[in-house]
Amino acid sequence: MKRLFTESYINGLLLKNRFIRAATWEGLATPEGAVTPKLIDRMVSLAKGGIGLIISSHSYISKEGQGTPWQIGIYEDNLIDGLKDLTTEVHNNGGKIISQLAHAGQYAETKLTKQPALSVSYVPDSHDSSFKVVSKADITRIVFSYAAAAERAKAAGFDGIELHSGHGYFLSQFLSPAYNQRKDEYGGSIQNRVRIHCEILQAVRKAVGLEYPLFIKMNCADFIDNGLDIEDSLQAARIFNEMGVNAIEVSGGIIRTGKLAPSRPGINSKEKEAYFKEYAKKIKAAVNIPVILVGGIKTLDTAINIIDEEIADYISMSRALIREPDLINRWEKGDQNKAKCKFDNLCFNPGFEGNGVYCITQEIENKRLSAIQVKSNYS
Ligand SMILES: Cc1cc2nc3c(=O)[nH]c(=O)nc-3n(C[C@H](O)[C@H](O)[C@H](O)COP(=O)(O)O)c2cc1C
Repeated sequence: MKRLFTESYINGLLLKNRFIRAATWEGLATPEGAVTPKLIDRMVSLAKGGIGLIISSHSYISKEGQGTPWQIGIYEDNLIDGLKDLTTEVHNNGGKIISQLAHAGQYAETKLTKQPALSVSYVPDSHDSSFKVVSKADITRIVFSYAAAAERAKAAGFDGIELHSGHGYFLSQFLSPAYNQRKDEYGGSIQNRVRIHCEILQAVRKAVGLEYPLFIKMNCADFIDNGLDIEDSLQAARIFNEMGVNAIEVSGGIIRTGKLAPSRPGINSKEKEAYFKEYAKKIKAAVNIPVILVGGIKTLDTAINIIDEEIADYISMSRALIREPDLINRWEKGDQNKAKCKFDNLCFNPGFEGNGVYCITQEIENKRLSAIQVKSNYS
C-alpha cells in the first residue's frame, strides 16, 4: 500500500502516486475537436481526485484520423490555446496530464471526416466503410503529423505524450498480422511491422527533445484470429525500449470485437480483474523501462498486488474513474472498498449521443434511491 502512494519519476516527470487515469474519450470537445469548459471541468475533477497522472482522451493528429465524435483534436495550431487552458487548470489543481496522440486508421469515423478511412492493407471482410490503403507518401505524411502534434502538445503545456498503438487503431493495425498484410518494408516480420513506429518515434523525439516524457500504449495481444501475439509484442516492446520510449502501457484486444476487447465487461470477481496481468509481467521482464498495466482494475488489493509482485510499475484505470473521479483520494484516506463501477460499459452510450461519457448506472441508482425516499416521505 505504501509503495502505491510514494512519489516516482518517469523521464523527469514527477508522479505523486502509482495511479494513472487511462486515456478515456469523453465526447466533450467541440465538433472541430477544440477543448470546452465541460472537458476542463472533467479533467479538474480527476486532478482534484488524487490521480498521479491523467492521460488525455485519444486526440486525433490529422483530420482523417478522427475516431469518435466530439473527440479532442490536436491536428492544427489553432487548437493549442484551448489545450493550454486545459493543462493550466489541471496543473493549478495539483494534477499532471499527458496527451494521447492517435490516428484511428481503418476505424476512422468517415461520416465525420468525410474522407475514406486509411487502411494498412486490404483485408477482405474487415472494412465497413469507405477506405484507402496507405501509400508510402501517406505514411511519410502521417509520421510528420505525429511529430507536429507532439510539438503542439508540448507547446500546450502537456507533461508528456503517449502514442496510441493499441485496440486496432492505425498503429496497432500495423503491428497486427490480421490487418497488416503488406508486402513492402512495413509488412511481414515484426521488425517491418514496427517500422512506422520507429519512424514516428524518431520524428517525435526530434520535435520534442530527449527530456520530454514519451509513452506508448500497445496491445500485448489482439485476441483475434491471426492477430498480434505475445511473442511479437515482446519483440515490439524491446524495440520501443531501445528507441527511447520512457514507459509502456500494456493493453490488449481490438475494439468492436466483443468480450475480449480492451474494456472487458463484467469484472465482478478478483479473478476477472487486471485481465492483462500475465502479459504485462512478461513485457516487464523484457524491458528496462516502467510498465503500466490497464484493464479491469477494481480493488485496492489488486493494485497493491500488481506493484508488490512486480507485475507492473503503475496502475492505469479508465471506467472506475468515470464513476468515481476521486477514487484514489478515497482509497488513500482509508476507505478501501472496491470501486463502485459495474463495468457494464453503459458509459459509452451518452458519449455517442452527444452528452459526454458518464456513468449512467450511477444515475439510475440515484434516481431509484430518490424515488424510494420520495415514497417514504409519503408513508
Ligand atoms: C468511455 C471510454 C473511452 C475510452 N477511450 C480511450 C481512448 O481514448 N484511448 C485509449 O487508449 N483507450 C480508451 N479507452 C480504453 C481504456 O483506456 C482502457 O484501456 C480500458 O477501458 C480498460 O481499462 P478499465 O478496465 O480501467 O476501464 C476507453 C474506455 C472507455 C470506457
